[in-house]
Amino acid sequence: MNRPPSKKKSAPIGLAPAAEWNAAAYAANSVVQHTWARELMARLDLRGDEHLLDVGCGDGKITAELARALPRGSVTGVDASPQMIEFARRAFPPAQFPRLEFHVMDARKIKFTCWFDCVFSNAALHWVDDHGAILRGAAAVLKPGGRLVVSCGGKGNAHDVFLALRPELRLQRWREFFRRMPMPYFFYAPGDYEKWLPAAGFKISALKLAPKDATYAGAEGFATWLRTTWIPYVQRVPEKLREEFIAAVTQRYVAKHPPDAAGWVHVRMVRLEIDAVKV
Ligand SMILES: C[S@@+](CC[C@H](N)C(=O)[O-])C[C@H]1O[C@@H](n2cnc3c(N)ncnc32)[C@H](O)[C@@H]1O
Repeated sequence: MNRPPSKKKSAPIGLAPAAEWNAAAYAANSVVQHTWARELMARLDLRGDEHLLDVGCGDGKITAELARALPRGSVTGVDASPQMIEFARRAFPPAQFPRLEFHVMDARKIKFTCWFDCVFSNAALHWVDDHGAILRGAAAVLKPGGRLVVSCGGKGNAHDVFLALRPELRLQRWREFFRRMPMPYFFYAPGDYEKWLPAAGFKISALKLAPKDATYAGAEGFATWLRTTWIPYVQRVPEKLREEFIAAVTQRYVAKHPPDAAGWVHVRMVRLEIDAVKV
């Protein structure tokens, strides 16, 4: 199977993840990401014998789906979050998923002693600052002709959520928690990748920003999304005030973007979609 170089223990190679994920909550509240992952998987056009690396694999459910599509191949999921990897290993144990494995690994420090046919990543890379480092690591573990297939938050992503969030962060009630907070997400544009991909040894097959409509079941569904994935913001607020903070941001958002007739709250998202081949 696809082993990273041996280390004394399974610990993150790079920096510790800035946010602490609740893997079970993410697993139960990531229908939107799952839907987009399936769209991305459909583009892989797998034969069934490929060896695939899933970067930022999270709770592992998509990685396991990829493994089911590769009965003669293998899938390795890596993620910087020890909580996510522990959850994935428990949910998809080797006895039931012999061609699937998970490792704690920072996307900026991808290292393996073997080669992959494909590096895949869904809804993860906008959490990472240095995409040049990701691409160099991906190129180093891909076979010549191997594919890089990625979808992540791109330029302009969730703009309306930031419009609701920013005035709330400036209120006296919260501002002490957000002083000098750097932007936790990195929403890049095709123009950035037009430079970075060739420099890392990739030929671009397709590269674009894709608008997507994310839908949440009413204000409560929107609040659950904030609670589970906007954790760089939520976790800055002391635990006893978090629900109040989530409710306040939700109220601001829903006031401007009320649920549709069927009760769905819509969020305009923008994905950066990348398909490239290692030359
Ligand atoms: C929204 S989840 C996506 C999980 C999964 N790919 C999916 O589509 O459901 C984002 C994941 O990116 C991971 N992540 C964030 N920064 C990372 C880094 N520097 N290296 C590897 N994974 C990272 C997080 O730990 C988290 O599991």
